[in-house]
Amino acid sequence: MKRFWAGVVVLVVLCAAGFFAYAWKPSIDPVEPPQRAAFDQALIEKGAVLASVGNCTACHTKPGEKSFAGGLAVPTPFGTIYSTNITPDPKTGIGRWSEAAFSRAMREGIERDGDHLYPAFPFDHFTLVSDEDNKALYAYLMTRHPVENKRPPNDLPFPLNMRFVLAGWKLLFFDKGAYREDASQSAEWNRGAYLVNGLGHCGACHTPRNRLGAEERGSHLAGGEAEGWTAFALDGSSSAPIPWTHDSLFAYLRQGWQADHGVASGPMAEVTGNLGRLPDADISAIATYLMSRMGEPTPERVARAKEIGAKLSADAGATPIPASASAGKPTGRGAVIYQAACATCHDGSRPQPFGGIDFHLSSAVNAPDPQNAVNIVLFGLPAANGRQSAIMPGFAATLKDDQVLDLLAYLREAYAGKPAWQDAAARLADTRSGKYQVSVRPSDGIERGPDNVGAKD
Ligand code: HEC
Ligand code: HEC
Ligand code: HEC
Repeated sequence: MKRFWAGVVVLVVLCAAGFFAYAWKPSIDPVEPPQRAAFDQALIEKGAVLASVGNCTACHTKPGEKSFAGGLAVPTPFGTIYSTNITPDPKTGIGRWSEAAFSRAMREGIERDGDHLYPAFPFDHFTLVSDEDNKALYAYLMTRHPVENKRPPNDLPFPLNMRFVLAGWKLLFFDKGAYREDASQSAEWNRGAYLVNGLGHCGACHTPRNRLGAEERGSHLAGGEAEGWTAFALDGSSSAPIPWTHDSLFAYLRQGWQADHGVASGPMAEVTGNLGRLPDADISAIATYLMSRMGEPTPERVARAKEIGAKLSADAGATPIPASASAGKPTGRGAVIYQAACATCHDGSRPQPFGGIDFHLSSAVNAPDPQNAVNIVLFGLPAANGRQSAIMPGFAATLKDDQVLDLLAYLREAYAGKPAWQDAAARLADTRSGKYQVSVRPSDGIERGPDNVGAKD
């Protein structure tokens, strides 16, 4: 028996030693901040485009403050993590990081000094980025204006505030390594997969997460959440009433809206805004890859899409009648609110993107949960600065809770042909109370919080 316990102790010590050997990462020596002349202009420009695809500004910039200077609170279910300063400031930024240190952060989620980084920084996607692209990103970031700005300390409970714990998380959930081509697929598909799953980190929002905050492996792009919004499924379980096609995805990602699908809102508005810098061939590659994830729509979805198409063209030919009448519920309380508050913009007679979409086509109204419909009804779509954009007033102050709920139930039944959402009341209350910290953006993607909607930038 003594022998047995001695064996157990040795095993535990060995395991602990093994774990610490695995968890421990060396520091990479600081360097003198490189001069601008050290970088080729073409490489810097390439890096600018890549930084857009990676949405680096979104997390590393506080709205209205200097780009890449960090300090933005990134809320997670475990606590708040503040983004770091990735300007080349030598004291508070990455000015003294070598390219090797930067590439290691992207590939492995490790700080220059060897600490593990939290996966709020999507290194689980950025690990796929090629050495070449990291080189360009580094050139771009190191030639920005240095800004002195120290981020606030993270607000995480014990033991999550211990960074070595993250080594365990990585052991469980992290597959390290640059993208490897799938030889059975086309070059275009591979390019799309590289962008979607790597720098574009689409799955960071569009894939559901497990209780430890890792993306569920079997549910790639099956729908997730971000900044208080639902990021709809991009696989076979898509909420779009008219199934996506290569062309409609291309148009939506290129311009931020599409006639059969409406305007990108919330965090997605920023994503489509950033993708604007990519060449058409890359957007097309993303669409090709996503179409392969979505697969052929089921016969039921095809039939439903046909039904909607027929209905919309019949409505277009008729004299403008209240949509509530055509939906067969002219006197319900929700229908009355729809008529008064929504129909002038949403009866389908105004073209996209400045007119509201006919709700038969809306992913928000057809989605399994009411979150995005709640967000849009409460906060609307603020106007973009200095350019024409889709605008919708928020109804947070105008409509009471029971009125919003009646309205949502009506939209659901009349336009999606589905029963009212079960969790609408709870979602509405939690959204109003600020629990979800909903980000509100105009369709050009620049954020305004729910509190300062309409305030100047
Ligand atoms: C979804 C939000 C998000 C996005 C998008 C994002 N980052 Fe970050 N990043 C973070 C957070 C949060 C941290 C801090 C993590 C920590 O404290 O462990 C971080 C840390 C880093 C670090 C480590 C810096 C340091 O001082 O420790 C680097 C380098 C970095 N990010 C670069 C980038 C680049 C380059 C991009 C775009 C390609 C990018 N990030 C996109 C959230 C993000
Ligand atoms: C920061 C979070 C976030 C990231 C990153 C993100 N999305 Fe989204 N996406 C959303 C949200 C939220 C919505 C729903 C909002 C809306 O439809 O207006 C959405 C909606 C969409 C839609 C419309 C779905 C539908 O059925 O209406 C498509 C297509 C899409 N995203 C593709 C992408 C692609 C491709 C990428 C990667 C290049 C990506 N998204 C990255 C959050 C994100
Ligand atoms: C002043 C015009 C206007 C009014 C009034 C208005 N909307 Fe909108 N709404 C828009 C525009 C423009 C968009 C963006 C285009 C789009 O996606 O439909 C939009 C988008 C939406 C969306 C997202 C649709 C999607 O899936 O893309 C929902 C849901 C919505 N509105 C609900 C409502 C409801 C409910 C009301 C009434 C309480 C209302 N709107 C009143 C103009 C308006």
